[in-house]
Amino acid sequence: MIAKHAFQEENVVYAEMRDHGLTEGADRLNHEHGYVKQYLFELGAMAKDDPAWLPKLRAFRAMIEEHMREEEEDLFPSLRAQLSDEQNHSVTVAMNREGLILA
Ligand SMILES: [Fe+2]
Repeated sequence: MIAKHAFQEENVVYAEMRDHGLTEGADRLNHEHGYVKQYLFELGAMAKDDPAWLPKLRAFRAMIEEHMREEEEDLFPSLRAQLSDEQNHSVTVAMNREGLILA
């Protein structure tokens, strides 16, 4: 689920963001996707009774929540506002196509 979400955003939305002057935000979000994988790797490698496991999980959750907040409340609306209805529809179609690649 996380992999599909990342694939769709990285291959379509972040690329559109860069094409519409939102390169810094797209690069930051893409960087954070890398750290989602890093957290999953590290949490998976740790024993669940390790005292550092829960604090790391909380940090991971906080990072994801901030990432989603920035996408949903700031950067995606900025992109959406720059696109025509037809372009927004094309982005949706392209995201669905990318999602099917991983289905
Ligand atoms: Fe994302």
